Amino acid sequence: MKVLGIETSCDETAAAVVEDDHVIHSNMILSQLDEHKIFGGVVPEIAARAHLDHLDTMIKSAMDEAGIKFSELNGVAATCGPGLIGGVMVGMMAGKAIAAAHNLPFIGVNHLEAHALTPRLTHKVQFPYLILLVSGGHTQLLIAEDVGVYRRWGTTIDDALGECFDKSAKMMGLGYPGGPNLEKIALACKNHDQAVERFTLPTPLAGREGCDFSFSGLKTAVRNHVEKLPEGDLRQEDIADLAYAFQQTVTKTLEDRCKNAIENFLSEYKHAFPQAANKPTFVVSGGVAANITIRESLQDLTARYNMDFMAPPLNLCSDNGAMIAWAGIERLKRNMTDSLDIAAKPRWPLDPTAEPKIGGGVKA
Ligand code: KG4
Ligand code: ZN
Repeated sequence: MKVLGIETSCDETAAAVVEDDHVIHSNMILSQLDEHKIFGGVVPEIAARAHLDHLDTMIKSAMDEAGIKFSELNGVAATCGPGLIGGVMVGMMAGKAIAAAHNLPFIGVNHLEAHALTPRLTHKVQFPYLILLVSGGHTQLLIAEDVGVYRRWGTTIDDALGECFDKSAKMMGLGYPGGPNLEKIALACKNHDQAVERFTLPTPLAGREGCDFSFSGLKTAVRNHVEKLPEGDLRQEDIADLAYAFQQTVTKTLEDRCKNAIENFLSEYKHAFPQAANKPTFVVSGGVAANITIRESLQDLTARYNMDFMAPPLNLCSDNGAMIAWAGIERLKRNMTDSLDIAAKPRWPLDPTAEPKIGGGVKA
């Protein structure tokens, strides 16, 4: 079973062909970094136009690299939300058109589900598993019980973690995209203890019950520190120290929230892991899961609970077409296909029963 996956929900124009035996035949990604860089963030209108300009070429190269024709596909999957609606429409309409022209099933993929299912593409992880989904628009702790069946135990009450990385990096003068730039400069921090002492930062909600997150206070604290630095060009040493302290704080916050989720998961889903050989799995996915400090700290945390730890390879953490194609395969195998009148959705919660949280960065 081969599926074409199309992703256009943010600033990556991506197309991929994946087979149900876990083989990625092609995975083409065109990042719009240059288009958005001068604005310091993604501009939705520019993103939609750039998708329109480049998507055809990306689909053609994904098909060429996979060496197959449209008629040899078993289905077409495209992100239908959540995301920037203009871009989502471009990818969704292209996917529907290919499906209609070649009489193929269409699968309208929830972008969050695609991040959540990626570990089943790369590591054949079995349900149920616990996921920390950390991206530019979302920060959630979820239980994946089955394809299409998720429980959301925690979400951000204000900013998403990727957003907090990006905005903090911008204040530090690191430019867009903030997350990877911040991670890189933190490596230049020479004295870790001194950096953490010098730049104290809050760990919001730490020690409290539950699995929710809050990152807007951290962003404000970064701004206060930056404003106190000597005027003029920010010194690289100062920024490296602040970036290091920031990552340490984020890591501590994630550990605290994930610890609560892990303890709940191990107690509530005990029945699913009756034998020692069948260990429960903790997954981290989404763009921020590419951060090595975060990966390592979560790996240590989960080892303490005797859980398997899984993070997708770095190129499958941030947005890509392969994850959309894989979510398409998972759904197609279960006959969970969509009609061509499925609508694009700017918001699309994975767990429809979870109460919405009112906050600037909450997209679902
Ligand atoms: O999943 P993703 O590609 O797009 C969304 O669905 O939002 O995530 C993008 C986010 C951005 O905020 C980006 O700065 C962040 O992931 N990110 C990182 C790293 N790589 C990407 N944040 C921290 N460290 C990284 N290495
Ligand atoms: Zn994403």
